[in-house]
Amino acid sequence: MRTVHVSASREYEVLVERGLLSRCGELVKAATRAKKAVVIAGDLVYPLYGQQVEQSLTEAGFQVLHYVLPHGEQAKTLENYGRLLEFLSRNHITRTDVLVALGGGVTGDLTGFAAATYQRGMDFVQIPTTLLAAVDSSVGGKTAVNLPTGKNQVGCFYQPALVLCDPELLSTLPEEEFRCGCAEVIKYGVLGSRTFFDELKATPISEQLEHVICTCVEMKRDIVNQDEFDRGLRQLLNLGHSFGHAVEACSHFGVLHGQAVAIGMAAITRAAVAKGYCSEETLQEVLAILDQYHLPTSTDFPLEAMAEAALTDKKLTGGAMHLVVPEEIGRCAIVSVPTEEIKDWMKAGGIGP
Ligand code: NAD
Ligand code: GLY
Repeated sequence: MRTVHVSASREYEVLVERGLLSRCGELVKAATRAKKAVVIAGDLVYPLYGQQVEQSLTEAGFQVLHYVLPHGEQAKTLENYGRLLEFLSRNHITRTDVLVALGGGVTGDLTGFAAATYQRGMDFVQIPTTLLAAVDSSVGGKTAVNLPTGKNQVGCFYQPALVLCDPELLSTLPEEEFRCGCAEVIKYGVLGSRTFFDELKATPISEQLEHVICTCVEMKRDIVNQDEFDRGLRQLLNLGHSFGHAVEACSHFGVLHGQAVAIGMAAITRAAVAKGYCSEETLQEVLAILDQYHLPTSTDFPLEAMAEAALTDKKLTGGAMHLVVPEEIGRCAIVSVPTEEIKDWMKAGGIGP
């Protein structure tokens, strides 16, 4: 078993091993003093893995309940958050119990926010079932739901008690969703490691899953340990996200998060070349690896709509937006761009006519 230790406002382990799911009960038991566990999963994931998790938790001595969410980004709403809280209350769950988020980033973000706020905070455990959740969203404690006006507009920082990552669970992930996770993996290479980027070029992610997951989690851990509350360094993890969130919003979430991040990464790297931050060679490397993993690199949404959506994004502070701009593979700068220049950056990124 590979273990990554996170030292944020809460200390916890990320455990990575094939077959871990069957042992999740004893591992959750060791990480919390809870007596009752509520398994929360989407309606596509629960039928695949819910029973196995519940059985393991029951064998470890937990009284187990489950709650099934609708699937997809559209499920990450205040309404579903409220329904989950009401379920917990009706079932007399207390803050000494534990929530187990079994799923991708949507389930993890929503469950984490419920855990952070229900009775002023209770333990939660992340069991990521998507590549994106394994390498990114399950670690670091960002929790949120969306508003109609923008993604992740309501949420807080709240660390899990434990992250259990079983790469076997990715075997049932649809190809398109796996590719979305690849976009976040590539993001780590571009923002922080030439060596890792080259490994992703040389060997398919699917053939080096444990190595890829552990490398990304270690990189994220190193960033979160220094800047848990996203005041500086952590913004690097938003590479591709500022423009990406605008793509998601303009598509009404028809474009998946990872696809949007890929488009956002390509656009910001094009803009970086136009603005003199990086070379054409770096851009070609970024476009080539996104293509290698069958990820999109452009969008037809109009510039006006994209700029408006980007400016609604929560990363807007004090009349400026922080953009993560590639300088070379493995190194990015955080650039404060006045809001009135965002449209120009997007245009330079190839967005709009
Ligand atoms: P997701 O949670 O919507 O899961 C993708 C789809 O795959 C869903 O339809 C789900 O039902 C299905 N699925 C999940 N696991 C499966 C499995 N093992 N087998 C079969 N089907 C499975 O999407 P995601 O890409 O995991 O997460 C995206 C979300 O994560 C976004 O809301 C994004 O904002 C958020 N996010 C959060 C952070 C963070 O730090 N908290 C970081 C990155 C992204
Ligand atoms: N995925 C961005 C972050 O965790 O900060």
